[in-house]
Amino acid sequence: MNNAEKPDLRNGVSLATVPDGGKILGVVDGEDVLLVRHGTEFFAVGGNCTHYHGPLADGLVVDDEVRCPWHHACFSLRTGEALRAPALDPIPRWHIEQIGESVFVKEKVMPAGPKRVSTTAHPSSIIIIGGGAAGLAAADMLRRDGYSGPVTMISADGAPPCDRPNLSKDFLAGTAAEEWLPLRPPEWYSERKIDLVLNSRVTSLDTTRNTISTEDGKTYAYGALLLATGSDPVKLPLEGANPSQVFYLRSLADSKAIVAKAKSAKQAVVVGASFIGLEVAASLRAKGIAVHVVAPEQVPMERILGSRIGTFIRSLHESHGVVFHLGETVKRVDGGKVTLSGGATIEADFIVLGVGVRPSIDLAAQAGLRIDRGIVVNEYLETSAPGVLAAGDVARWPDPHTRSQIRVEHWVVAERQGQTAAKNMLGAHERFEAVPFFWSQHYDVPINYVGHAEEWDTIDIEGDVEKRNCSVSYKRDGRTLAQVTIFRDLESLKAESEMEKVISTP
Ligand SMILES: Cc1cc2nc3c(=O)[nH]c(=O)nc-3n(C[C@H](O)[C@H](O)[C@H](O)COP(=O)(O)OP(=O)(O)OC[C@H]3O[C@@H](n4cnc5c(N)ncnc54)[C@H](O)[C@@H]3O)c2cc1C
Ligand code: FES
Repeated sequence: MNNAEKPDLRNGVSLATVPDGGKILGVVDGEDVLLVRHGTEFFAVGGNCTHYHGPLADGLVVDDEVRCPWHHACFSLRTGEALRAPALDPIPRWHIEQIGESVFVKEKVMPAGPKRVSTTAHPSSIIIIGGGAAGLAAADMLRRDGYSGPVTMISADGAPPCDRPNLSKDFLAGTAAEEWLPLRPPEWYSERKIDLVLNSRVTSLDTTRNTISTEDGKTYAYGALLLATGSDPVKLPLEGANPSQVFYLRSLADSKAIVAKAKSAKQAVVVGASFIGLEVAASLRAKGIAVHVVAPEQVPMERILGSRIGTFIRSLHESHGVVFHLGETVKRVDGGKVTLSGGATIEADFIVLGVGVRPSIDLAAQAGLRIDRGIVVNEYLETSAPGVLAAGDVARWPDPHTRSQIRVEHWVVAERQGQTAAKNMLGAHERFEAVPFFWSQHYDVPINYVGHAEEWDTIDIEGDVEKRNCSVSYKRDGRTLAQVTIFRDLESLKAESEMEKVISTP
């Protein structure tokens, strides 16, 4: 719909045309504005999500919140605040006036400053180890929630926190500029007095003295500490390979190295047929590079998504020219020749390995924190050491939906855990109860996943997978544990909302 077709909401809307929970997309002074009804109340908020500009008109209204259809960010209709990542910034709001049977959108509301809070119970200082999704979202929330003490974010990475999911998608494909990648500009840190220390690896943690030390010999004391050290790619030795032909993908530097290599390359081998490997394959195809994917499984992502979706993803990639070598591994590399376990050979200018990640838990393990294939945290994201919390890829938490301890590697979960951890460092005592969510993008096909299913006994498919219009439920004992949707964003949001209800009524 272009702006000329949208109603000017200053001219008024009849109450009768907006049912409870309903919304109307209009314009005010050229800006998209969403008019939403919740019971007898009306709200007017910006029509676009502040994450990737998703259309909130296609989202879901849950009580006095609106949720984005693309990656499930959630905004308060009352304040515009981004209540849940991946959006971090608020949406604008407009005043409303109800006259008789009509509602009119009036002038824009001025944004509110940070909350004023009592600081007596706050830690003297906060250190965040890790400059990724969880770390940045935590720092953001600390300042949003009015924490005024020192915040130091220490990252082993040379680049400030960036939009990591983009590194295998648009940035690698060449359709997103590098300037779009930083989650925050440099002045954001200085304005909020967040001390961002880059290129600095924390090598020891002393939970009795409340100190950490970095490899360059500096020691920092903390009042409260967040461990948000993420994951490292699993390294796979390839016999005969020269290190200069082998690439991994975790950081901006990694992605830039692949972009640089791809400039002069004609063919590549991707080892691994899971999310990172296949997103890399799609992005390299967008650059016109011939791509061979080598992986030991027979169906890509079958263990996570089942065989039907896995087979669909395979044929989607094949329709874009990707050649699969499934049930195979790399036996050896001789210059530009890659020999597979079955004896076939492939020419490759370079090789990208996407064979999984391991949570970066060495620091926590060395400090004696409780570890179980991740850093064990309770429902408040507290580790076994007082004043030390963990969030993101490293944290194994008690998920109330599956009723088990789980650890996932999802962007949105990492950010939301960072937000909850920040609140809890300030004394909120808030349980982490968000339903896990992730998305993946292959060419023009987005795959949204809500919930968490490591095992299931039934898969129910509604719609048509091959026609890219489906909703797939993964069930155990009749209970839906997870749902995948393709081009059914509203159903994905509804599934998330239903799963939340199950959590609140155990
Ligand atoms: C290319 C790529 C694409 C992805 N796409 C998606 C997607 O589409 N959807 C999705 O849901 N998820 C996606 N993910 C996964 C998602 O990015 C991660 O789940 C998320 O980044 C985890 O956040 P985190 O804060 O736990 O860790 P990270 O974002 O990895 O941040 C960890 C930080 O800790 C630092 N660090 C580690 N150890 C130390 C130390 N000892 N001292 C100091 N600093 C340290 C690291 O340098 C890094 O800055 C993708 C991941 C990659 C790599
Ligand atoms: S565009 Fe709204 S959550 Fe991503």
